[in-house]
Formats: sequence, structure tokens, C-alpha cells
Amino acid sequence: MEKRTILITGAGRGIGYAIATKLAEQNYNLVLVDINADDLENAVKTLPGDGKFIPFTCDVSDYSQVETVVAKAIEEMGPIYGLVNNAGITRDGLLLRMKPEDWDLVLRVNLTGTFNFTKLVSANMIRQKIGRIVNIASVIGLTGNAGQANYAASKAGVIALTKSVAKELGGRAVTCNAIAPGFIATDMTDKLPEQVRESMLKSIPLKKFGQSEDIAAVVSFLMSEDAAYITGQTLTVDGGMVT
Ligand SMILES: NC(=O)c1ccc[n+]([C@@H]2O[C@H](COP(=O)([O-])OP(=O)(O)OC[C@H]3O[C@@H](n4cnc5c(N)ncnc54)[C@H](O)[C@@H]3O)[C@@H](O)[C@H]2O)c1
Repeated sequence: MEKRTILITGAGRGIGYAIATKLAEQNYNLVLVDINADDLENAVKTLPGDGKFIPFTCDVSDYSQVETVVAKAIEEMGPIYGLVNNAGITRDGLLLRMKPEDWDLVLRVNLTGTFNFTKLVSANMIRQKIGRIVNIASVIGLTGNAGQANYAASKAGVIALTKSVAKELGGRAVTCNAIAPGFIATDMTDKLPEQVRESMLKSIPLKKFGQSEDIAAVVSFLMSEDAAYITGQTLTVDGGMVT
């Protein structure tokens, strides 16, 4: 079978890189997007398998950059079968101290970035009459969290966007699902104070932090034929934290 192409945002490191690694092992061609050019270059060099991997340095929150990337990706790779909206950031702070620019930035990258790629890539999927969109949300988008009003709102927005896109595109055989990771050991969580990490660990029934590979495995399932009848769902992958 001809290799299918999947576009992954935030693919330079962390969960995005683990997703790229898993999908590369499974023989997909990959379009890798990240704001950090050095990490992207390193990712392309180190991915396994013999697929075609093309990197694009791009800020997901900038619609015109995303338009250029999607057009060039389709030109070079042909139709896009899968999209993983993974790029995301935190700018934590209690509400009363939260700077409006930190609110805006987190919403722009996490939510608007997901909208930008979903809108532009889904147009191509609709024409192919097949497609898989996977959005990386967070358990914080389900529960809320003190000190993360911006992040929680952005991820709740991603979950609502996922449900709406599933309803709009289901008739064209395009599925759209979200994954809500709990605490996954990456650069994003490394910067949390030890105290916070310890108290989080106590709230995880499986008594360990998740690994990026735990999320990559679920993305790979959602991209597979076995997941063809799942859409509009949010799969929580959190060691039992949120039930
Ligand atoms: N680590 C966790 O515990 C955890 C938990 C729940 C959800 N998540 C979500 O998983 C996703 C990946 O997180 P991670 O832990 O791997 O974080 P990370 O910080 O290690 O990686 C994020 C990647 O996104 C890229 N990125 C950031 N802003 C970008 C932009 N504007 N345009 C393009 N790329 C950009 C970064 O350069 C980086 O490569 C995020 O959406 C995050 O919110 C993570």
C-alpha cells in the first residue's frame, strides 16, 4: 500500500517527537512542524524507518504561515491523511496576576493553532473522503486548575472544537478526536517545582508519571483502521488521575 502522510505540530521534542517516532516506525510519511528549527532538524535526522520526513519551521498561531506550510506540504507529499495538533505551551500564574499577554499567547498557540491547521488540512481531507485528526488536549481542560486559567480554557476549547469538527466532517469520513494526557514527563513538566510534582504523583492511581510513548501509542491507534468508527471523543491517558 502507498505510504500515507501525517502532519504533526510541535514535533521537535517531547510528546510530539514521540508521536513522530511511533508513526515513522509504522511506515507513514511525516510532515513535521515546530517553531524551533534546531529541534526539528534533529528530529528529522533521528527518526527511524525509511519514510519521507519533511520539516517546516512555523508558528502554529500564525494563520498565514500555516497556509504556506499546508500548501507546500501537499505539493511535496500529496494528500494528507492524518493531522496531529500537538504544539502547546503554558504560561502559568494565578488569575489576579495573570498578564493579558500570557492569556492571549496561550489561547493563540494552543487553541487558535489547532483551529488553523484543522481548517486548512481538513479541506484536503474532505477532497480525499478520508482523514484522521487527533488533538492533544489535557486533563486540565476537563478539570480546570488553579494557576492555569489560560491553559485550562485553551484545552477545554480544544475539546469543544474536536466535538464540533467531528460533527461537521463525519459525513466525509474524517474523524476528529482528542487525547487528554495527565502528567507526562517532558520539558513542559520538568519546570514544575518538586513539591508540585510530588503532590501530583500522589493523585495518580498508577503511581507513576506517564511517558510520551503512552500518548504516542494512542495516537497510533486513532490513526489506524481499527479506530475508523471513533469520532468526537476525548481519550484520557493519565494513569487514572481523572475519573
Ligand atoms: N507534558 C504533559 O504533562 C502534558 C500534559 C497534558 C497535555 N500536554 C500537551 O501535550 C502537548 C505537547 O507537550 P510537551 O509536554 O511535549 O511539551 P514540550 O514543551 O516538551 O513540547 C512542545 C513542542 O511544541 C513546540 N511549540 C511551542 N509553541 C509552538 C508554536 N507556536 N508553533 C509551533 N510549535 C510550537 C515546541 O517548540 C515544542 O517542540 C502540548 O499541547 C501540551 O499542552 C502535555
